[in-house]
Amino acid sequence: MGINMVSMLRKLLFVCACLALAPFLRAGGYEIAGVVDVSTNDTTLLISYTDKKIPHFEYYGKKLNSPGDFIGKGGMTPPEMGEENPLYSGRGGKNFLEPALAVVHSDGDLNTELLFEGAEKSVSKDGNVQTTVVKLKDTKHDFFVNLIFTAYMKENVISERAVIVNGQKGAVELQKFASSYISLRGREYYLTHINGAWANEANVSEDRLTRGMTTIQSRKLVRTTLSENPSFMLSLNAPLSEKSGEVVAGALVWNGNYKLDFEFDEFSNLNIISGIMPVNYALGAGEKFETPEFVFTYSSEGAGKATRNMHDWARNYGVYAGNKQRPILLNCWEGVHFDIKEDVMFEIIDDAADIGAEMFVMDDGWFGTKFPRNDEFAGLGDWAVNPRKLPRGIAPLAEHAASKGMRFGIWIEPEMVNPKSELAQAHPDWIVGAKGREKPLIRNQWLLDLSNPEVQDFVFGVFDSILKSSDKISYIKWDANRHLEQVGSAYLPADRQERFYIDYVRGLNEVYRRIREKYPDIIIQACSSGGGRVDYASLKYADEAWGSDNTSALSRIFIQYGESLIYPVKAIGAHVARSPRRNVATSMKFRSDVAMMGRFGIEMRPKNLTKEEREDLKRAVSTYKSIRDVVCDGDMYRLVSPFKDPNYAATMFVSKDKRRAVAFIFCVNENENTDRPYFKLDGLDPNKKYKVSEINADRPICMQNGKTLSGEYLMNRGVGPRFMYGLSSCVVELTAVE
Ligand code: DGJ
Repeated sequence: MGINMVSMLRKLLFVCACLALAPFLRAGGYEIAGVVDVSTNDTTLLISYTDKKIPHFEYYGKKLNSPGDFIGKGGMTPPEMGEENPLYSGRGGKNFLEPALAVVHSDGDLNTELLFEGAEKSVSKDGNVQTTVVKLKDTKHDFFVNLIFTAYMKENVISERAVIVNGQKGAVELQKFASSYISLRGREYYLTHINGAWANEANVSEDRLTRGMTTIQSRKLVRTTLSENPSFMLSLNAPLSEKSGEVVAGALVWNGNYKLDFEFDEFSNLNIISGIMPVNYALGAGEKFETPEFVFTYSSEGAGKATRNMHDWARNYGVYAGNKQRPILLNCWEGVHFDIKEDVMFEIIDDAADIGAEMFVMDDGWFGTKFPRNDEFAGLGDWAVNPRKLPRGIAPLAEHAASKGMRFGIWIEPEMVNPKSELAQAHPDWIVGAKGREKPLIRNQWLLDLSNPEVQDFVFGVFDSILKSSDKISYIKWDANRHLEQVGSAYLPADRQERFYIDYVRGLNEVYRRIREKYPDIIIQACSSGGGRVDYASLKYADEAWGSDNTSALSRIFIQYGESLIYPVKAIGAHVARSPRRNVATSMKFRSDVAMMGRFGIEMRPKNLTKEEREDLKRAVSTYKSIRDVVCDGDMYRLVSPFKDPNYAATMFVSKDKRRAVAFIFCVNENENTDRPYFKLDGLDPNKKYKVSEINADRPICMQNGKTLSGEYLMNRGVGPRFMYGLSSCVVELTAVE
């Protein structure tokens, strides 16, 4: 597209965004004056407005080529019953549904009635990102909301956020301020979401929604995604299915308290209202409030396509350095825990290099002088190297790793402080908690008050000074091992305490932003007691999240499956750890096959491996190197869900050109196994021939190993591994031969 054409497109305003139509009768008998079309390549989101400028969320689904034909066919809504399918409803007025926005205006008026004022559209240089700003204004007050819809054309993902502006002479109080309001029309709805607890993250549950309200939320502030992830899949009119049916999948880009409401209303619509957990927030005259984004996609081909859309968006836009390949790392946490010693670190670095790892990460326990970090009771906050453990500091370790051709990473937990620390003694006012109340501890630590700019500087300084200690550090594991309990900020004024819930997150993200400005190439892992920060706000700055502290391979099959519904596997750390783990013994092959379905890593002291295990691990590392691009950058197809099948789990990855694929098949039953199921593959080109090779195996068990078969055969007949034992696995690589 020529430059002139592009700049013309970028200037397209209201006129183009609002397709004026011949008036159509909308429910209730009033006329639609126009629509705003927010389409992607395969989907359409249609906003309509009536002759009275009342905006509606008119349609979200399969691409409409002539939206005008569709409008006007909705059900009847007697006007006296209020407005159906609002676009972004205010509390009060004619609205009795759950609002997106609740405001106490400067004169005490509790009502907000937003009318459509216009829309503007702009297009990115490459044409893939189209932004539509829909302008809304209250009927009475100078109070404005701009809804910003960003359409990612080829990924078929849309994001929505709101910018709320108080144009009144006095302050208003925001009491609710959603990021988005999506109104779907169906008969019944099935909500799938991922939830759990520490070391048991991302269980997949599905519920048929009943009339009324269902909510997914978190008030933990930190490590929120251990329990409820701010994401979901919503299936219309039938339970969620992988390959068919209408699915809307979404995720809130916020790493703090949130609330996702699903209101199945009396008109049979499902209104999804997503945003920060509401608090009372004073907005002064002329001030604006920007909500985080909510990203979502629509698939008419089931959950699988919805996942692939989200993964594509994530790699291209949502995850930091989403298109870069991640190194294979060895983390010493489960190998030595707090028992860091220079000679042991050297030993592990040597072993990691021998095994083929590309990076070594030194975990917790390396710091604290007056209060050494020998366990979880002391030292957090005091980020000076413990000279008794590392007499020469960090640099020699990083240099040693570099001399072995590996990169070096290090663990920090800069948002936290132990009572037994120099930091806690020096800055009691930096600790979150209410004056006059005993501050509760979790893991013997308190949270630092990131609403305070001085604390933000401190946290930035921790990161900065560590990186200054050696130019060979290229990875930071950023941990956060408690959530918020007692709230209270010594920094915020007494009448602004509620802001803490938002300002903490803003403070944290401001630190991340500063870090990224200075250190664009450092790899960051967002860890929070395992999978407590698996969210797109953390991943905006972090290259990856740690999937779970549960490294049992059997558990990980479930956890990684759940997380990958919405988040791309290359952004989820998955490590081969010791066995037995959590009383479940698994082979090195099984453990490494599970870890290969994510950002592969190792979590142990290799010295403790048997000779055979070490050889198997080496083989796994080299196997992963040969398939990493397919797993990390390919399309994911779920074949069998461990949450639905008592015996098996299977997932495969297909390169974008469909020339290569890898299928991972697991027997998740611990019993001896005698049945002989076939697993139909997916995502291949039916007309291509593929060479089938079982990989990462001493004795292949796949019946089709070594054969060349058509995609048609593989997707209809499938492959048949002959599992002989419980907890065994089979990984099959497919390579197009013509
Ligand atoms: C919790 C993390 O999830 C673990 O991987 C490890 O880093 C420990 N914290 C260290 O204290």
